[in-house]
Formats: sequence, structure tokens, C-alpha cells
Amino acid sequence: MSLTPTTTSSIFTTFLLLSLLLILRTPRCLANSAAAGRRKLSVDYYAKSCPQLDQLVASVTGMRFREAPVSGPATIRLFFHDCFVEGCDGSILISTRPGSKEMAERDAHDNKDLAEEAYDSIEQAKEVVESKCPGVVSCADILATAARDFIHLAGGPYYQVKKGRWDGKISKASRVYPNLPRANSTIDELVKLFASKGLSLNDLVVLSGAHTIGFTHCEHFLGRLYDYRGTNRPDPAIDSRLVKALRMSCPKFGGNSDIVAPFDVTTPFSFDNAYYGNLEAKLGLLATDQALALDPRTQPLVKDLAKDKQKFFQAFALAMDKMGSIGVKRGRKHGERRKDCSKHVL
Ligand code: HEM
Repeated sequence: MSLTPTTTSSIFTTFLLLSLLLILRTPRCLANSAAAGRRKLSVDYYAKSCPQLDQLVASVTGMRFREAPVSGPATIRLFFHDCFVEGCDGSILISTRPGSKEMAERDAHDNKDLAEEAYDSIEQAKEVVESKCPGVVSCADILATAARDFIHLAGGPYYQVKKGRWDGKISKASRVYPNLPRANSTIDELVKLFASKGLSLNDLVVLSGAHTIGFTHCEHFLGRLYDYRGTNRPDPAIDSRLVKALRMSCPKFGGNSDIVAPFDVTTPFSFDNAYYGNLEAKLGLLATDQALALDPRTQPLVKDLAKDKQKFFQAFALAMDKMGSIGVKRGRKHGERRKDCSKHVL
């Protein structure tokens, strides 16, 4: 399978920092909070049963980062979408059974943009892990480990991933919509959603920093470019040069629905803190990103993180540990150990 998206055009604006790389891309409320999940996990969970786990996963993520770089941001997002729906239990990796009445999470509308490269990366990592440690390591732990690797490979922090997640037995598309944020959610809505997962306002700001890499389709910010809240004008909270550049690739009507733009218009491929500086300069693409720099509750942290990359890295590593602990399952009652991440154990 072709793993690299086709670069279709780049926008050249007079403003160098706004150069945008455009890419065509093929197309239950949690019973247990992050805090409870954290107590169930440990860094040395596989110390006896699969001591070389991190190296095995790294052999795949390193190769994927070079050969299919889209895998990086896509896997980080895959992990986020897994954790927020039924907890970090690999439920997003399940494929809908042919003939099944109910679709699996993966096929929900809100997951349709998750790039195949992410699923392929986890499948490949699982194969390598199974070849050395058969039947031992959960898909959920492999996903958490791979997401960390990609963050680090892109220049972000390296942190120890706590393990011990079992894979989940439930994967329903209908659980996705109420558990994921949308590009036009308000800060109040985001705070409420994150709180329902045991995550704080600060976690929201820090985890949103994952948008320092990766891409978004035009549909997620189109409303900000042309007719913001029925004004027939762009969102005043977006830099006018960025509006101009984005309009070139994202027309009001009839645009190519596969076109994407980088979240971080200054350093799109580096995992750094430029995302926060961009928000201060009105260069956020999603309304939710830009709102973090405008809301008085989140603005001070945006300022701090824009100034201090190390502070962002430390906070991000901690917040990923918290997010990675949402809804953790242990034992056969709620969990399973899949050999094939896309299929439940029968
Ligand atoms: C705070 C609320 C959030 C909203 C509203 C949001 C929304 C979005 C949207 C609309 C996209 C673009 C999807 C597409 O068009 O393909 C996206 C991409 C992405 N999101 Fe978020 N997101 C949020 C939080 C997070 C969090 C917490 C993480 C991880 C910790 C994350 C990681 C990513 C990554 C890495 C991408 C790029 C994916 C790629 O390039 O394949 N997001 N997000």
C-alpha cells in the first residue's frame, strides 16, 4: 500500500512564515477516571514477559517515521481518539464485522479522517511484538508506546510509558460522537468533556499542543475563512494573511475535500512549542485552538508555554500519562488480549 500522501501544491505567500504545505490524503461515560487508571499501570509491567517491548515497537515506529511520516501525527491522534472513547483499550482498532448490524468505533463519522497509516503502524508493531512475545502484550499498550515514539521522533519529549492496559471488548461507532471534541466546540464544552475523562483545564491546553504537528482538512476551518457567524467576513481572530493563504487552497464552494493544511504554519513537522506562539499571533487553524489564546482561563498558560519549550515538554509528557490512563481495563471481565488488533477474541 502507498504510505505517503501525495503532495499536490504548496502555497507561496509573501509572508514566509505562512507558507503552507498542502497535501492530498487518501481518502458510556467512563466508569474509571484517569487517576484510577494510573494506579493500575506500571512502567515495568512487561519486565519479565516481554523485556524488549520498547525496542520492538521502536524498530517499527522508526522505520514508519522515515517511510510514511504521516504515521506520526496520525498515530498520536489515534491514541487520543482511542482513550476518549471507552478508555485506552484499543477499541478503535477493531474492524466492523462483515454483516454486523452495528459499526465499530473506527467506522464512525468522527474517525473517518484518521489516516490508514496509523492503523498500519500499529498492526506492524503488533506483528513484530507477537513474533517475540506471543500472546502477551495488548494492542492498547502498543498504541500508547507507538504514540510516545512518534512524539519523540518528531522532536518532542521522551517519557516512560506505563503499561498494563488490557484490550477492550466493546467497540461501537455510536459511542464516538458524544465522547470526542469538535473543531467548533466552545471552551466550556471542551472543559466539560475533558473533565468527564478526569482531565483538567490545563491538560486541555497542554494536550492541544499535539497540534504542533499534523494536518487538518479544510472543512474544519472553512467557516472561519468566509462567513464567520453569518457576518460574511472571516473570523476576526485569524490573521488576514493566513486567511488569504488558506482561501487559495480551500475555496468556499467546490473545493477538493482531500486537501489538508498544517496546523502549525511555522514549523509543521517539528514537535515544538511554536503552536502556542502561533495562537498568540492569530495563526491557529481550528476555532478550538485559537480560543485557547483568547479565553481568560486558558490564555495565561498559552503564554507560558509559548515562552518555554521545556515547560511544554514536561507538561505534555505528564498530560499524556494522564490521558493514557483513562478507562484502563484489567482482567478478563472487561478485557481481552488480542492477537490481531482488529478482531475481538472469540
Ligand atoms: C481539544 C480538542 C481537540 C479538537 C477539537 C481536535 C480536533 C482535530 C481535528 C478537527 C483534526 C483534523 C482532522 C482531519 O481533518 O484530518 C485534528 C487532528 C489532529 N489532532 Fe486533534 N483535536 C483536539 C485535541 C487533540 C488531542 C488532545 C490530541 C493528542 C494528544 C490531538 C492530536 C491531533 C493530531 C496529532 C492531529 C493531526 C492528525 C494527522 O495529521 O493525521 N488532538 N484534531
